[in-house]
Amino acid sequence: MSSDMSGNVVKTPTGLKVNGSEKLDYNFHYVSPVFDISHAKLAETYKPWGRVLIVLDKIVAGIYQKPIEEYFAHYKVPAHFKLINGGELNKNMDTFEEIVDFLDASGLVRQEPLLVVGGGLVTDVAGYVCASYRRSTPFIRVPTTLIGLIDASVSIKVGLNHKKLKNRLGAYFAPVDTYLDFSFLKTLPEGQVRNGTAELIKICTVSEKRIWDLLVKHGKQLVETGYGFKNDDKELKAIGDDICKSGIEEMLRLESGNLHELMLDRVIAFGHSWSPTCELGTSPLPLRHGHAIMIDMAYSITLAHSRGMLTDAMRDEWFTLATQVGLSIDHPQFDAKLLQLSTRAIEKTRNGKQRFAVPDGEFGKCTFLNDVSDEELAKVLETHKKFVADRFPNYKGQDAYVDSGDLGEDVEKYIENKKNGGETLSGGCDHSHGNGTASSLKKVDGSAAKAAVAAGAAVNSNGQIVNGQDGTA
Ligand SMILES: NC(=O)c1ccc[n+]([C@@H]2O[C@H](COP(=O)([O-])OP(=O)(O)OC[C@H]3O[C@@H](n4cnc5c(N)ncnc54)[C@H](O)[C@@H]3O)[C@@H](O)[C@H]2O)c1
Ligand SMILES: [Zn+2]
Repeated sequence: MSSDMSGNVVKTPTGLKVNGSEKLDYNFHYVSPVFDISHAKLAETYKPWGRVLIVLDKIVAGIYQKPIEEYFAHYKVPAHFKLINGGELNKNMDTFEEIVDFLDASGLVRQEPLLVVGGGLVTDVAGYVCASYRRSTPFIRVPTTLIGLIDASVSIKVGLNHKKLKNRLGAYFAPVDTYLDFSFLKTLPEGQVRNGTAELIKICTVSEKRIWDLLVKHGKQLVETGYGFKNDDKELKAIGDDICKSGIEEMLRLESGNLHELMLDRVIAFGHSWSPTCELGTSPLPLRHGHAIMIDMAYSITLAHSRGMLTDAMRDEWFTLATQVGLSIDHPQFDAKLLQLSTRAIEKTRNGKQRFAVPDGEFGKCTFLNDVSDEELAKVLETHKKFVADRFPNYKGQDAYVDSGDLGEDVEKYIENKKNGGETLSGGCDHSHGNGTASSLKKVDGSAAKAAVAAGAAVNSNGQIVNGQDGTA
């Protein structure tokens, strides 16, 4: 194998300077069903190693382990599995170490690629193991959730949570290959499909008008049928395929020149300004990430509309889609105080600017606002709440709160644990860009909260200090 780095050394007046660059090369393959014997490529990759080591989500294993075994058996590649629990509470060092132990026990050979199959949780943690194991171990990803397919496995960010700090440990580490197979949506619960659809709505609203129009037309049906896979609707599958692939390509186009996220005006941060705080603030359970970003986006649409950047018809179209697919558009805890405090927090992590992404005059285009005063935020909030109450009375997002699958723990146990002040976590994702609000919450009393605000700390609407300037959220 040749080196993936180039570099040279030059003398400087005081010493030496190394100039180098790293070559980044990674592939996405659309293959469906990926574990079908007609697709030899994946199995062929493992032939030279005489086996395949697979880290697999436990729930996914219940449905797909047998076909995976049969697939590799057909190619005479023995498969060895390590089953991992999905859910955010398992995004931790214990899971990381379990995978490390598996690699040690299996005697992983230096450049033998690990195969990772599961949702964003498993691909993030196992990817981080690979970034760390012998400083670098190749891996191949097969995402199985909509979030995984169109978001987590499109990025090269891997990592895990540390205590209550979301994605506090992590790396930018690209897999060799990612196999994208939308047929996994056949078994994904509707709430998870809806959750992932919010990220597609995000990208279309500000970056892809053609796909926006397709979602407006077919969004409800797509969510209800797992993008046509639950009812084997060929036409709907083709539309879903088009939407997902376009969303993926658009995200790669927007982000592949900014993989280390040094540029802060990020189109894909639409919906990720106020949502991290909102996602956490709800009680007793956190909102699902997709619902939290939809509330943020819905408010942003009202903001853009109030500035004359969107017509009534555009605003109405946006809210119609959101409600048709059953995603949230407002929440009682999304209030003026939350807006103000989370604005302060996001300004810090966006180098002092607001950089609020909004559609620019039409869907599919984006601009960044940097001049929104607290007064305007509060006024737009009033407008937003009134509009929602008048147009969508009693509307609530469906399956808006995390369930045991998202958590990786029984919901009742989580609530009980939270009541007792134990370890709790929330969802959140990786577009909030350094908004440390995505996870770390430390309960303080009212006076301590005031003092913290005076000292410049971000505090959410529950009077909780929001820690951390997490560069990758
Ligand atoms: N790396 C990134 O850039 C990035 C981007 C977005 C999200 N994320 C991370 O992804 C994680 C969330 O990902 P997720 O929503 O996929 O969660 P997850 O991996 O926990 O999966 C959600 C649930 O779905 C189950 N599941 C997975 N595939 C299934 C299938 N095909 N059929 C039935 N059930 C299935 C899992 O067992 C789990 O219970 C978060 O930790 C988030 O931070 C990372
Ligand atoms: Zn997100």
